[in-house]
Amino acid sequence: MRRLAVGVWLVVTIPASAAPGVSHPNFAHDIAPIVYRACAPCHRPGETGPFPLLTYADAAKHAAQIAAVTRSRYMPPWLPEAGTVKFEGERRLTGEEIRIISEWAAAGAPEGPPGEIPAPPHFPAGWQLGMPDMVLEAPQAFQVPAAGPDVYWNFVLPNHRTTSVYVRAVEIRPGGGAGLVHHANLLVDRLAASHEREVAPGEGFPGMDLEIMRSPFDPPGNFLFWKPGSVPHQEPDGFAWRLDPGDELVLNIHLRLSGKPEYVRPAVGLYFTDKPQTRFPLLIQMENDQALDIPAGASDFVVKDDFRMPLDADALAIYPHAHYLGKLLEAYATLPDGSRRWLIRIPDWNPDWQAVYYYREPVFLPKGAVISMRYHYDNSAANVRNPHQPPQRVQGGDQATDEMAHLWLELLPRGPQDRRRELQEAVIRHTLEKNPKDFAANLNLGAVMLSRLNASGAVSALETAVTADPGRAEAHNMLGVALQQVGRNSGAATEFEIALKLRPEYLAARFNLANSQIKAGKLQEAIANLRQVIAAKPDDPLARQRLQAALAAQKQRAGGQP
Ligand code: HEC
Repeated sequence: MRRLAVGVWLVVTIPASAAPGVSHPNFAHDIAPIVYRACAPCHRPGETGPFPLLTYADAAKHAAQIAAVTRSRYMPPWLPEAGTVKFEGERRLTGEEIRIISEWAAAGAPEGPPGEIPAPPHFPAGWQLGMPDMVLEAPQAFQVPAAGPDVYWNFVLPNHRTTSVYVRAVEIRPGGGAGLVHHANLLVDRLAASHEREVAPGEGFPGMDLEIMRSPFDPPGNFLFWKPGSVPHQEPDGFAWRLDPGDELVLNIHLRLSGKPEYVRPAVGLYFTDKPQTRFPLLIQMENDQALDIPAGASDFVVKDDFRMPLDADALAIYPHAHYLGKLLEAYATLPDGSRRWLIRIPDWNPDWQAVYYYREPVFLPKGAVISMRYHYDNSAANVRNPHQPPQRVQGGDQATDEMAHLWLELLPRGPQDRRRELQEAVIRHTLEKNPKDFAANLNLGAVMLSRLNASGAVSALETAVTADPGRAEAHNMLGVALQQVGRNSGAATEFEIALKLRPEYLAARFNLANSQIKAGKLQEAIANLRQVIAAKPDDPLARQRLQAALAAQKQRAGGQP
């Protein structure tokens, strides 16, 4: 009893740092476990942190700075607010951990017993998930300029596999100096048309936010996002996605300039599984870029979008996206009973730390729940990240100096069957309510209507699509198919011809054109087109069969044997 009383007296009257026998937090027992877990993944050689945090000497040298950046919650970078919803791999420190770090720094950063310092974490050199089953490397290195604004570049990675595989994880190796690649997104281009956008074969093409056409019947369902310091996400059994022969992978990367000219040549490692896909999540996008017209100086400009769930689903992951004026980013669901369920709340958005967040537990969103996106933008001079000083009017766009209001969710519809189509259609209709002339939404709606055998509905949606963007071969081809179904054969042929003018190697359009030429009795032209299709795709049974029929018809017309 007496000793305890003395202890209390000591703490109260003598400055803590001078008190003999009073234990301060030390590196060995208290600090190493925090730093190894929350800092070392980035603060180590070859990673983005500006100095390593792997030894006592590293930490002691930066003790005051470490205390300051953890107290302000600048480090570790973690945007979502605590207490709303729990995410996987949360790097946020607890209030207690922050207090311990401050106390340790204030006490002169004591080491503690050197023999009791835990071993620093081991990070595998090279691929974090082990040797990939397939590695695709950018065909050519990209030369990164020494200075100037950030660079956004897209590499097209051809896939030469001849069979389909299921991919459970993707890892990206930036292939350049540490910190040069800020983050990357991988997109699967099933139309294999991305190489046509390249500035020269193998060199890729510029652009910050990349749009890839995907059939509405085969929409993307998985985030393929990477950033330094993260362990790649691995899809659970049943969630792997299919990579088909001929698919092109497009790696969209954000590059930070280092002050000297450098090269990057990224590689993508793919990890396969023999467990086929049995669960079908869908990535849905909410957005409202057209509402982005932010006056210079406006400090709280709000952009909204609200989407009503057409079915029961679980939210598995979320990816909010804005540029440098974004400030407070909120997404929540209002349930049919009026209660609110948070999906994410980011009080101080910083696009530099953007990430895909996976929920620790799926968030159930019942049919009728309304998902709300509420993004607040600060276009005042007080926003330190404002790319314009003095501030200027800013609108939606894909340059870093434009703004964006996007929210992606990975949703898994409940129920035994694949219900993506129902969800997809509700998203398309929601987009059309906001923007009746939206190209992608009209194209997708056209495809959905074709699948429901509503060809005249498809024609009008697809006509809107080609008016909105006349330069898209897929849209002309699909409009041609719809016109053919309503019996407007010559209109259809015109659309296929436009598609081929835009993309001469578009085989589906050439095949369709040949069909409409057969119908119009233009056998000579049809045969020439079918021969071209077969030359590019020698084992296309449909094209061969059609060619045989056309040749037979030609012979018959010439009066020969049938
Ligand atoms: C996701 C990667 C990542 C993690 C995790 C991370 N850092 Fe950092 N840290 C960085 C990067 C990148 C920078 C340099 C850019 C910057 O300062 O914004 C940085 C900068 C710093 C700085 C210098 C800040 C300044 O103002 O110059 C300190 C100090 C720091 N980190 C400490 C920590 C501590 C302590 C932790 C763990 C509690 C931690 N970091 C976790 C990536 C990370």
